[in-house]
Amino acid sequence: MLRGLFRTKNLDDILAAAGGPQFSLKRTLGAFNITLLGIGAIIGAGIFATVGTAAAGDASRPGAGPSLMISFVITAVVCGFTALCYAEFASMVPISGSAYTYSYSTLGELVAWIIGWDLIIEYAVGNIAVAISWANYFRTLLGNLGINIPAWLATDYRTAAKLAANNPAEYARLFGGAPHLFGHAIIFNLLAFGIVALITVVLVWGIRESAGFNAVMVMIKIIVLLFFIGVALYYVSPTHMVENWHPFQPNGWRGTFTGAALVFFAYIGFDAVSTVAEECKNPSRDLPIGIIASLIICTILYVVVGAVFAGIIPYHELVQKLANEQAEPLTMALDHAAPAGVQWPSTVVAFGSVIAHTAVLLVFQLGQPRIFFSMARDGLLPSVFASVHPRFKTPHVTTILTGVFVGGIAAFASIDEMVDLTNIGTLFAFILVCVGIPVLRVKDPGRVRPFRVPLGAFFLPLLGAVSCVFLMIYLPPASWWRFVGWLMLGFSIYVSYGYTRSSVGRKVGRPTLTPAVLKLAALGFLVVAVGLFTIPHDLGPFSMWETATHAAADRHDRAVYGLIMIAAGLVTGVACALFGTTQAPDAGEPRAAD
Ligand code: ALA
Repeated sequence: MLRGLFRTKNLDDILAAAGGPQFSLKRTLGAFNITLLGIGAIIGAGIFATVGTAAAGDASRPGAGPSLMISFVITAVVCGFTALCYAEFASMVPISGSAYTYSYSTLGELVAWIIGWDLIIEYAVGNIAVAISWANYFRTLLGNLGINIPAWLATDYRTAAKLAANNPAEYARLFGGAPHLFGHAIIFNLLAFGIVALITVVLVWGIRESAGFNAVMVMIKIIVLLFFIGVALYYVSPTHMVENWHPFQPNGWRGTFTGAALVFFAYIGFDAVSTVAEECKNPSRDLPIGIIASLIICTILYVVVGAVFAGIIPYHELVQKLANEQAEPLTMALDHAAPAGVQWPSTVVAFGSVIAHTAVLLVFQLGQPRIFFSMARDGLLPSVFASVHPRFKTPHVTTILTGVFVGGIAAFASIDEMVDLTNIGTLFAFILVCVGIPVLRVKDPGRVRPFRVPLGAFFLPLLGAVSCVFLMIYLPPASWWRFVGWLMLGFSIYVSYGYTRSSVGRKVGRPTLTPAVLKLAALGFLVVAVGLFTIPHDLGPFSMWETATHAAADRHDRAVYGLIMIAAGLVTGVACALFGTTQAPDAGEPRAAD
């Protein structure tokens, strides 16, 4: 049945395949470098850009207020469960590809494909958000130094359009000088595109150079966060800060949990280090150390920064400030705390923030190609994705492809939407990793596990999976629709390409060419994705149904057309996929070329 859709890959085969000379990467990283890569991936846009919204809330979510520090602890605990699972997997399967590789060995090919596809959201979409935030801070930093980059070269069109609707005077001030084409202002984020292009060149050049570059940036960003804490305590006494912590939970636990779901972005990255497993000198020891150490260090820093941030500006003042200006939260807080006219502390923090963002971009741009690389090695993507540069020994094709995707979208996308989408996609990947631990402990109990999740196979991993679902519930509906749409797009590609090309498929006698029925299934899933991208994204399932069933409702047509596409595509996709994946093999036919 289903011709091996849930067929898992043997771990020994995975380890052996990775050793092949044509696909091998240079082994240059130790535990210290891996911890630095972890911190490099973790501290970035999350702490520098999302804390303001997490504390104050916005139109679509309540704020955590000073309980932001509790939000950070909650998210750290959720990530802690998952970090232990990642550490067990990474020590046992030290192969590039991260959660993708783990799920191939535990939950089977289909789930592995879903994860691999989903990880594009974590790595590439996450980096789109980071690149946009980098551009904001970089522009602010240059502005403080007296160099002005026009806003129309550092902002996306939709954010500008929102500003035009909410605050026309501010729009005119910022974008009045933008050139026009056919009556439309030209607005795009050239800065975000530029930094991604630069990072891509560094990564094609080589990992050794990149890791050294990262180490320096990590040191700078830790110092800058400590600087933020120190300067804040210098200007605002601890007693005054404690006074500002009232009301502690202005929106109750809902605000605290919603804040936790948002600042989850700040923790993403501890898992990214597992993607460089094949470049570690001693992966079974160094990877668990790197993953857990980086998570602990960042948690301590975040909780203190959250407490200090909430101590500088009282909650109600913060809500007002964020409604009226688009400031970066940490520099805004310092400007608020410092005496009038003293700008240098916020300039220092803006500088550190630029460095922090750059380090995050580096690690994620490093991780994404390696996931593509693993998927191509398994036949789920064309083999050109697994090629290694003859001189630099880096996966140059996928590195450049990732650069084009991230840089291209960063020039036009809005940061909030990218953060929410990244969070939901990453939480989903974490769930599958958590579930994989008990599955593999039961299926393969005798395997050597240099690191084991404590307290048995079930307790902490399942707690991890449940807590990730819990955080997902607090993300806005838009992220859910887009996430499911993305997965459907992935199904479409899998049934039309990976299913017949995978090396597992080769062993279980799948058809050698994609049969017509699977092409139809692919079309069905594509239609579902288009439907999901068409419906009004701000509506939850119940309001969507209301909108679709009431002709007078706002955006009724969009809801109806979208839902029809979803239903028709789903029926076609599922029926044809079920039929197509249970067909007899056409043994003896030559395989299609990739
Ligand atoms: N954790 C990373 C950041 O905050 C993704 O930028």
